Amino acid sequence: MVIVYESKTGFTRRYAEMLAAKTGLKVFHVSEISKVNPDEEVIFLGWMKVGKIQGLNKVREYKVVAVCGSGTARTAEPDVETVLKRNKIKGIPFFYLRGGCLPLKDIKGMDRILLGMFVGILKLRKDKDEKTAESIAIIENGFDGVREENLEPVLEWLKAR
Ligand SMILES: Cc1cc2nc3c(=O)[nH]c(=O)nc-3n(C[C@H](O)[C@H](O)[C@H](O)COP(=O)(O)O)c2cc1C
Repeated sequence: MVIVYESKTGFTRRYAEMLAAKTGLKVFHVSEISKVNPDEEVIFLGWMKVGKIQGLNKVREYKVVAVCGSGTARTAEPDVETVLKRNKIKGIPFFYLRGGCLPLKDIKGMDRILLGMFVGILKLRKDKDEKTAESIAIIENGFDGVREENLEPVLEWLKAR
């Protein structure tokens, strides 16, 4: 088995490298997928953009046995069921890993425009709950939610196989 990941700002890469260090499995960025033997089992980690796990479509022809999605929220957004459907994940486990984000001012290009719009919509909400306020603060100021213990469910699943 090998680990393959996609990461834009480095949070998912840290999880992939942490998992490699804990398991001894080799780790590849998705751009190196041609180096992976098609018979090899793959555990895939990708960052989530509007609910889509980035890079997952590039490994569809491989033997993906588990998928991890990293996002900024406490739990998968909008919810696990939607993420599974939107990413066509069937019959294999999905693990949500809380990643993080750079402060909005440090994000570039289209992603910054998208996130800026998103935070604008959140701010317009009249009845801002705690979760909305937290999302606004995270996007504006940045946040690092990468923790070793978040990999525990993945490690337990690997052990049980
Ligand atoms: C344009 C954009 C859209 C995003 N959409 C989502 C999302 O739908 N759900 C989520 O949980 N996180 C979302 N995020 C946050 C990232 O998935 C999160 O910051 C991730 O941990 C970044 O990983 P990376 O550093 O490996 O690129 C979005 C971030 C950007 C820039």
